[in-house]
Amino acid sequence: MAIQPLMNTYNRLSVAFDYGQGAWIYDTDGNKYLDALSGIAVTGLGHAHPAVTEAICHQAGKLIHCSNLYTIPLQQQLAEKLTQVSGMDNVFFGNSGAEANEAAIKIARRYGHSRDIDKPAIIVMESAFHGRTLATLSATGNRSSQAGFEPLVSGFIRAPFNDLDAVKNILRHNNNVVAIFVEPIQGEGGINVPSNNYLEGLREICDQHELLLMLDEVQSGNGRTGRYFAYQHTAIMPDVVTTAKGLGNGFPIGACLARGKAAAVFGPGTHGTTYGGNPLACAAALAVVNTIEKDNLCQHAESLGQYILDSFHIQLADKPYIKEIRGKGLMIGIELTDAGTELAVLAKVKGVLLNITGGGRVVRMLPPLIMNQNEADLLVNTVSSLIRVYAGEDTAS
Ligand SMILES: Cc1ncc(COP(=O)(O)O)c(C=O)c1O
Repeated sequence: MAIQPLMNTYNRLSVAFDYGQGAWIYDTDGNKYLDALSGIAVTGLGHAHPAVTEAICHQAGKLIHCSNLYTIPLQQQLAEKLTQVSGMDNVFFGNSGAEANEAAIKIARRYGHSRDIDKPAIIVMESAFHGRTLATLSATGNRSSQAGFEPLVSGFIRAPFNDLDAVKNILRHNNNVVAIFVEPIQGEGGINVPSNNYLEGLREICDQHELLLMLDEVQSGNGRTGRYFAYQHTAIMPDVVTTAKGLGNGFPIGACLARGKAAAVFGPGTHGTTYGGNPLACAAALAVVNTIEKDNLCQHAESLGQYILDSFHIQLADKPYIKEIRGKGLMIGIELTDAGTELAVLAKVKGVLLNITGGGRVVRMLPPLIMNQNEADLLVNTVSSLIRVYAGEDTAS
């Protein structure tokens, strides 16, 4: 078989996109699609948002990069903005979710060593997704994506998600745990929303055992669930929060925010990156964070998300092929009783972009925060009808 010039890391659908506008994206043949995936929770402000376009164009003509060896005023402004919206103390900028998570893992290890723990361990969850670098892949709770990459990075102990007793049990048998690392809502794992007291329970355990509570908000952050960060639905504060995806609306940037003792772990020379937090990335992200605030997009994501969830409940209530309809804000999943892998292709044919996750059984929708109610209605009607036809209840329209 001839080797293709592009490494074979994705099963791609046969469509190529040319341009986008708001919640819509257009392929090279001129067909339009309602983008209910947002490039997997990335383009929260929709495509070609004027504030982001203008910030990128302006900064690209001024200064793209200069190195973290120098003061970068836009990086400082973005750090101030993010600490203000999150209540955290400081930030390290990288270029992706995995890099933000690498920083968090390194903070946890160094925190452990500062407490004379030689082999620090981090509790991570089943079905978690933290990235594809070796450490973040090792933290990820999906055996199939780890297969073939052994030896994995050691120092991770796995607990079932949403199970406080399992975490307590691990702590009874291990005295080297330094942190708990968890997604407030699991994205790749299938839009798994934990019970109401879960994060509070983890916070209490961390306080009792002097552990860092580290939240991976790479997918759930930047307004997606109806708060800037998903933990802000609760009264707790984490010690470390990571984010990426929606932060740059497509321009690559990741952030690891820390607070209190975690914020004092790194010193000069302990961590770094060439590109992370360069002027262009920070200009794009500042435009995103300011727009989310100015246009009240967290509130909009909360109310539109609830409207979409309620509408799906009405359309698909009591159907035997639906296991659960769940989500928070604009992080929405419909779990089917059987595999529904082909639904992403069928939805594309109907002009809607979504994807299937959670072991092939969860229809995942991550619409942009700027989606309007008419577009939401179109999404719900198209996807509900598609699922009914797929399950054999309706004939194809
Ligand atoms: C929760 C979470 N963490 C980390 C990552 C990895 O981010 P990236 O692909 O930017 O490295 C993802 C990506 O899907 C994610 O959903």
